Amino acid sequence: GIDISKLRDQTGLITLDLGYKNTGATLSDITYLDGDNGELYYRGYPIEQIAEKSNFTEVMYLLLHGELPTSDQFQSFQKGINKYNFVADEMKKILDVFPRSAHPMGVLSSLTSALTAFNPRAVDVNSKEDLDHAAEMMIAKFSHLCAWTYRKKLGLPINHGDNSLNYVENFYKMCFRRPNEEFHLDPIVVGALDKLLILHADHEQNCSTSTVRMVGSAHTGLFASVSAGISALWGPLHGGANQAVIEMLELIEQDGGDVAKYVEKAKNKDDNFRLMGFGHRVYKNFDPRATIIKKAADDILNALGIEDKALDIAMQLERVALEDEYFVSRKLYPNVDFYSGIIYRALGIPTEMFTVMFALGRLPGWISQWKEMRLHNDPIGRPRQVYQGAQKRDYVDFSAR
Ligand code: ACO
Repeated sequence: GIDISKLRDQTGLITLDLGYKNTGATLSDITYLDGDNGELYYRGYPIEQIAEKSNFTEVMYLLLHGELPTSDQFQSFQKGINKYNFVADEMKKILDVFPRSAHPMGVLSSLTSALTAFNPRAVDVNSKEDLDHAAEMMIAKFSHLCAWTYRKKLGLPINHGDNSLNYVENFYKMCFRRPNEEFHLDPIVVGALDKLLILHADHEQNCSTSTVRMVGSAHTGLFASVSAGISALWGPLHGGANQAVIEMLELIEQDGGDVAKYVEKAKNKDDNFRLMGFGHRVYKNFDPRATIIKKAADDILNALGIEDKALDIAMQLERVALEDEYFVSRKLYPNVDFYSGIIYRALGIPTEMFTVMFALGRLPGWISQWKEMRLHNDPIGRPRQVYQGAQKRDYVDFSAR
């Protein structure tokens, strides 16, 4: 018979790296991350400079094309997006059948996949021009789908796109415009949104981006690949952490605000509880995005005149954890999503929508990585395994089991 241990020998050398902790999956020119020194660069530009000086549309261009745009390139990119600033009417019927209670990430992933039916050109991509065209189409339509999930959650009718506005303003209006009310753009809110989207725009080979690349490596279309990325992002160990953080802060507040008790709970290995928004696979010093967001959260709450107990609890939690041997020795620091939920909440965005906001920010990263993977002609992603199951055995009839 077949001796599986011999078969195993025949497969040659296989590296086993659970969770790909030390395995590079690709060569990339897009984002550089120095986990030991807490540094992040988009196409060579430090995140601190980008967050302070750039805007989300420009960052999308930078990630997709590799350089900051000239004025003409910027205008033409904006025009390309504006051309697709609508979604087919039939898609609204799909939105209508979801219950209001549905989690927005499930709705978003389904709607994104459904887009393939109405935009076949984005499925059949053969040249760089096709890729750039599919990217602009996806960028435009995705902001609608994200806004739709918000309107659904609130039980409000959807708003149409407005080409007189920039990308973030347009998204803001599609979310927040109320029927029969005059609409105002609040510059503080739009500025905060822009910054958050920039900070989430790309982060090299994280779980959702690797998913988008993996699915796309089978030459699956852009919309379907992104839909898979949305599902990966949903999990609480990844993008879903922003929702989980606020729920945790609310729980601590309702429980009397005893921060030390929850730090102890997170250290207890018999308890599944983790300090959400803490720890990162690559950052072993601090997450530079968290530093920027913490300051922005403080500024925005002040500017909007909001007092949020969750911010106090978050800061206390950070203080206690960063003095604790458990967190220090494991190099666990607040990550990008420890403070982002506090800003989303101040902007009037419901908790279940937080990860959708992350998805909108991460979209240009997903698309740029997908584009890079296709242009580099990366091979299909297909990891190996080390088999440790049963040896060869004979089938046993049902009556004899
Ligand atoms: N609370 C308590 N202990 C933690 C935490 C935490 N948040 N994170 C890691 N640890 C502990 C682990 O239990 C482990 O301890 P051990 O060595 O005694 O077994 C050690 O620190 C190393 O953790 P791993 O889980 O092996 O690290 P990994 O790189 O696999 O996971 C992750 C990283 C998923 C981010 C993890 O830190 C975590 O679950 N954090 C909470 C969820 C979260 O905030 N996710 C968002 C990440 S950022 C993003 O995706 C946007």
